[in-house]
Amino acid sequence: MTTQGDRSQSSLTVRRAPFEFPADIPAHWNPGKIEWGHMVNGASLAMPYLEPYLIKTVRAALAQIDDPQLQAEARDYCAQEGQHYRQHRLFNDRLIEQGYDGLRSVEARMERDYAGRLSDWSMEKRLAYTAGFETMALSVGHWLTDERKRLFGGADPVVASLILWHFVEEVEHKNTAFDVYQAVVGKYPLRIYGLFCASFHVMLRSHNAYKSMLKKDGLWNNPWSRIRLWRMTSRFLSRVVPHMLRCCAPRHNPRDIEDPEWIRDWITAYGHDDAGVPLLDTANLDAHVSAAYLAFN
Ligand SMILES: [Fe+2]
Ligand SMILES: [Fe+2]
Repeated sequence: MTTQGDRSQSSLTVRRAPFEFPADIPAHWNPGKIEWGHMVNGASLAMPYLEPYLIKTVRAALAQIDDPQLQAEARDYCAQEGQHYRQHRLFNDRLIEQGYDGLRSVEARMERDYAGRLSDWSMEKRLAYTAGFETMALSVGHWLTDERKRLFGGADPVVASLILWHFVEEVEHKNTAFDVYQAVVGKYPLRIYGLFCASFHVMLRSHNAYKSMLKKDGLWNNPWSRIRLWRMTSRFLSRVVPHMLRCCAPRHNPRDIEDPEWIRDWITAYGHDDAGVPLLDTANLDAHVSAAYLAFN
């Protein structure tokens, strides 16, 4: 974290996120939307493999960045991502402990995937994947917060708060991986390749994970469950893909995309103290964010 007295100030805030995940935290954390819950669980499973890869890639690029301001941002970006994957690791362990043993083979596959990308890919390609994933995360962050009541209303507050905190910070650090890519690589076609490569890869592994969980629940071959899954997948794609495509413009710059009001309010309410992050009241997600929390974790 950039501290007072540093020559270069980062605009990012590295927050402590001491969520507590009890052993019986429900895998069906959104009882009205089990399939959606498992889609999120599947994405969560990827984070302790994906985000360390992003951190290692950006750290390795630091030596090629001359701008001290961007260096400061990149260091805080790594610190935020480090908080994210550690919290997801704790949550994912709880899911696996509840009998979702099939997730272990998906994790092993992701470990091999990212080890291969670190050892075999050029720095240019690694940075394109990193910037590409961050573009998808920005698009997902807009969707999750715009539709927070539909997606998280009535859900377990700890899981909802984990996901929404994570994506507040994904939007907060929307410029960093893009700026690092532009400073070190800057090639437009490779940026677009990175966006589609990262998006497809993360969605595929998330799919592997939620399929495993739905199989364990006995829902994978249930036609009603399959319809609900398709409907949520369609909603995800119809909201997120158009946003991602707008980011494919040659002159795209993430700082030109206005942040959702709820995220700006979250950052204003909780962004600049050291009290942790709020536990949201999922029965009251329409309220102003400062009035919609149960407690600080
Ligand atoms: Fe993250
Ligand atoms: Fe990120």
